Amino acid sequence: MTARLGLSTPPSLAAHHREFGRLPLVDARRGDRPGDLVDDVERAALRGRGGGWFPTHLKLRAVVDSSAARGPLSRSRRPVVIGNGMEGEPASGKDAALLTRSPHLVLDGISAAARTIGATDAFIAVHRGSPAVPSLEVALAERASSRIDPVTIRIVTPPARYVASEESALAHWVGDGEATPVFPDRPFQRGAAGRPTLVQNAETLAHLGLIARRGGAWFAEVGAPGAPGTTLVTVGGSVPNPGVVEVPTGTAVHEILARCGGPAGTVRGYLTGGYGGGWVAAGDFDQAAWDPDSVRAAGGVIGASVLWAIGELTCPLEELARVTAWMAGESAGQCGPCMFGLPSVAEDVRSLALRTADGVEFKQLQNRLRLITGRGGCKHPDGTARLVATALDAFPDEVALHLDRRCSVAGRRGTDPAGTLPVPPARLPGLDLRRRDFT
Ligand SMILES: Cc1cc2nc3c(=O)[nH]c(=O)nc-3n(C[C@H](O)[C@H](O)[C@H](O)COP(=O)(O)O)c2cc1C
Ligand code: SF4
Repeated sequence: MTARLGLSTPPSLAAHHREFGRLPLVDARRGDRPGDLVDDVERAALRGRGGGWFPTHLKLRAVVDSSAARGPLSRSRRPVVIGNGMEGEPASGKDAALLTRSPHLVLDGISAAARTIGATDAFIAVHRGSPAVPSLEVALAERASSRIDPVTIRIVTPPARYVASEESALAHWVGDGEATPVFPDRPFQRGAAGRPTLVQNAETLAHLGLIARRGGAWFAEVGAPGAPGTTLVTVGGSVPNPGVVEVPTGTAVHEILARCGGPAGTVRGYLTGGYGGGWVAAGDFDQAAWDPDSVRAAGGVIGASVLWAIGELTCPLEELARVTAWMAGESAGQCGPCMFGLPSVAEDVRSLALRTADGVEFKQLQNRLRLITGRGGCKHPDGTARLVATALDAFPDEVALHLDRRCSVAGRRGTDPAGTLPVPPARLPGLDLRRRDFT
């Protein structure tokens, strides 16, 4: 078992330092340069754990370059770091687990990133009401009295809306008090208050905190070669002991399930990655390796590293209908294809789940999915379209039954409550995304 992220270490700073040692200082007399960490992150081949699995060293370099391009006298050249602990995916619990049980490792990552890119402001963002707020407050108070951070790290609590945790929305919130995505510029170009902004997922930052201590070669000793290291997986649905487990990337799906007691019965499919992820039929997916390329090759999306088993007594199309309706309500209401297209998709999926759709309506749904993909200011519509399209691909027999007014679990459901996905209450698009809505 490879456990690197300190989930079983007590969360205090003293215990953290006993377990991991102190974050090394950059010592100019020794010839260290703040930017050395970027090279180490490249050696580590660390890829972001927030959903996109983008190479972290490229983001660090992009922020440094964007800052340098502004010239020494520009007032807006000083970079900003934002740790993304929002965990917008309702089925995910990994970032909350990390921020409550190992908050100092994430804060070390913010500290190391800030020093490396020369940031003068640093934030950790968790959604309003997050269980991580108290542990972060305690951790930040401990760090302030020990004066271990080069910049003060502040907690920000944007609204608990799905798109509020998209990186440009977070930068927008920090700079202007609005949690709507901004486009076309990315945060590394123009982020919080127009400044170059690094947004990294909480887990990515925890790995960064370890790389700063132990180096890139150490980090890449375990895991899949294309995306090394360990990763936190939120396992849920039809398993006896759902929860968050840490495994090397590339671990077989059946081994991950075994850490949670194995499947609780016959599994008909999996939701991978979260609600912006994708569905796969059970088939031999349990033999697949849990890394971005292998999950994609099997038809899924590793995304936010959610692995949700759907038991045979759960109708995947009913699950899909509930989640799609919620995703439609989470639009920020800024782009037509997202604001108007997603509710139409949700309505089509609802008809399918209710067994009232016919072949014409089904074709209409497929057309809509094609039309909205790639047409939003952010990736929210693409993620929702993929969620629907992969379900239609993964469960063709169930789709055919529903178009024939039947359902494979009709009359048998209700005995598998563990299969149902968590769906927060529906809200109106765009509501509550402004700071003034809360004051
Ligand atoms: C609609 C939407 C919601 C997102 N929600 C989250 C989230 O809750 N947490 C997160 O870390 N990244 C989320 N992301 C991804 C972020 O935009 C960003 O890519 C990520 O925080 C970067 O961190 P990483 O490079 O360390 O993965 C979301 C993206 C989209 C399009
Ligand atoms: S695509 Fe949707 S969520 Fe994204 S910016 Fe446009 S309206 Fe907002």
